[in-house]
Amino acid sequence: QSNGLALTPPMGWNSWNKFGCDINESVIRAAADAMVSSGMKGAGYQYVVIDDCWHGERDLNGDIQADPKRFPSGIKALADYIHGKGLKFGIYSDAGKKTCAGRPGSRGYEYQDARQYAAWGVDYLKYDWCSTYSQDAKSTYETMSDALRASGRPIVFSLCEWGQNKPWLWGETIGNLWRMSGDIYDGWESREGRENGMTNILDMQQGLEGYAGPGHWNDPDMLEVGNGGMTFEEYKSHFSLWAVLAAPLMAGNDLARMSEETKSILTNKEIIAVDQDALGVQGHRIAKNGDDEVWAKPLQGGGRAIVLFNRGKETHKIGVTWETLGYPAALGLSVRDLWSHKNLSKAKGSFAADVPPHGVVMIRVEA
Ligand code: GLA
Repeated sequence: QSNGLALTPPMGWNSWNKFGCDINESVIRAAADAMVSSGMKGAGYQYVVIDDCWHGERDLNGDIQADPKRFPSGIKALADYIHGKGLKFGIYSDAGKKTCAGRPGSRGYEYQDARQYAAWGVDYLKYDWCSTYSQDAKSTYETMSDALRASGRPIVFSLCEWGQNKPWLWGETIGNLWRMSGDIYDGWESREGRENGMTNILDMQQGLEGYAGPGHWNDPDMLEVGNGGMTFEEYKSHFSLWAVLAAPLMAGNDLARMSEETKSILTNKEIIAVDQDALGVQGHRIAKNGDDEVWAKPLQGGGRAIVLFNRGKETHKIGVTWETLGYPAALGLSVRDLWSHKNLSKAKGSFAADVPPHGVVMIRVEA
């Protein structure tokens, strides 16, 4: 994207995964308050994004209004409140006539809406794909991208057409991030007709790594960490793998009421540093043997972040050789454990560890 934004994957919070349509201005303010008081802001989270269901009707001039019952103080006041905390503010619309929850979409109002968002102080727009019928995805997203640019305000542009039109092939100059799958579901794998458990979306990322880079990222959807559908180990896996994927880190839980365990995952600065590494390379799976997998992400300075990932139901010993990572076999590398925050002894040739069921060991190696 030529807007110069999102040179590392965007980090923040979005209302959808936890609250769905059940939002109002106090829910959003509480999330902004908690982002600061919990240490999330200090760990790098920045955008507070309202998803679907903030809209009221368009007024006689066609200007979009906030729902007067849920957002009686208006969107500008909310944006000011969020900016006053040193955070950035994001909003949601849709490329069709209606959003997925049936609120007014931006079709035919792209420039007017972009001007309105800029006037409100919007810093981030998530743009959905419901009610678009036969619209062409690329040109539709291009129109809003141009409209945002014409608004004169730098606004991160998040494409949400669920991967249907392969946005990784054309999104780089249009958006800063693009969803590549349907909605994530707060569970380990697909179940009862819900297709995209955490591991299912992970699998769909394999092969897309070449399309990501500074300013334009694959988006495997927002985090479910802390929402209750997975175990502590599974959420650690979710977070570690999203970091290796250089995924946008949009928390999706109730920040005002999170457990210490949830907070310890979301604010793990060493893992966030992997996600935010300035080289901006998306990692991928470099080895798979049954349930045992190794995912690796090249880092600035020649190091690698490595996730040893166990999909099985028992503890497995999983190893990685320096050769599979592209290093000389006999090289001595320092190894740091990013969950225990300990330096392990210098390793020659390979590294292996016991990995708990549905869990990870995540390390960083450096010459
Ligand atoms: C779609 C998107 C979700 C969310 C909902 C809101 O399903 O993919 O992320 O924004 O719409 O209705």
